[in-house]
Amino acid sequence: MIEINTIALLKNKVNEAIETGQTIGFVPTMGFLHEGHMTLVENARTENDLVIMSIFVNPAQFGPNEDFDRYPRDIERDSRLANEAGVDVLFYPQVDEIYPQDGGITIQAGQQANVLCGASRPGHFDGVLKIVTKLFHIVQPTRAYFGQKDAQQLAIIETLVRDYNFPLEIRRVETVREEDGLAKSSRNVFLSPTEREEAPALQKAIKLGIEDYSKHGDVNQAVAITKKLIEEKTSGKIDYVELLGYPNLTKPTDNQEDVILAVAVFFEKARLIDNIILTNKGE
Ligand code: PAJ
Repeated sequence: MIEINTIALLKNKVNEAIETGQTIGFVPTMGFLHEGHMTLVENARTENDLVIMSIFVNPAQFGPNEDFDRYPRDIERDSRLANEAGVDVLFYPQVDEIYPQDGGITIQAGQQANVLCGASRPGHFDGVLKIVTKLFHIVQPTRAYFGQKDAQQLAIIETLVRDYNFPLEIRRVETVREEDGLAKSSRNVFLSPTEREEAPALQKAIKLGIEDYSKHGDVNQAVAITKKLIEEKTSGKIDYVELLGYPNLTKPTDNQEDVILAVAVFFEKARLIDNIILTNKGE
């Protein structure tokens, strides 16, 4: 694995790959790697000749009172894990390399960002689109890999790629979980021991809600069931519990539509998100 810090050097590597007809699999991350990230790499490894991972804690997607400064970072450990997972090129730029100037031009997410995390984190998805657009242009991937754990992010990036004809394929990867069902997340390290014991209730609550929805098709009832269990089993404060059509993220119109039941819960030092997507095939 080679480690690259500058856009210019990465472009050389990318051009070399393109000239020799190699396919490029791209895994963008903010680091503090865990098995969720590793599963994206595994998929990229299987489907492409060259695997590029980026690690960049993107200031543009954090709000003024969010956890940019204390977001967990450990580049040495990450570098070792990326190498072991089969990453060929690790792109690890500093903020000045990525954002040396600001021309005042923004990319704004559409209506999919008006709900869920977009509603509670204003500007968050605009910041995600900003970095993803830059990275796609720099890396020129054949395929880029995103986790369903961040289902709203994935849906919005799919829309960006579709609407603006980015010449690449977005690959969806299922959520990787701990044995007790807690979705793996870089932010799980911020949970206290008690909160860590409570946190698997999020997935259990979503499961109960989505099972109820698949039987009765009643959005409000499914949401109420999920909320109740989270309130009973955790000390966290609910940010949202919502059931929406996926990937449009509007009110489900009929029970033929794929839906997502998504939650966000504030614990003392971490805001956790999780979801389950129910496809019309009943999966
Ligand atoms: P980060 O939170 O580091 O996540 C990087 C990728 O890993 C995302 O596609 C995310 O959905 C995926 N991922 C995280 N936890 C996962 C899990 N438990 N199972 C499966 N996949 C998981 O998401 C970001 O970074 C940033 O917003 C980014 C896209 C890099 C833009 O800055």
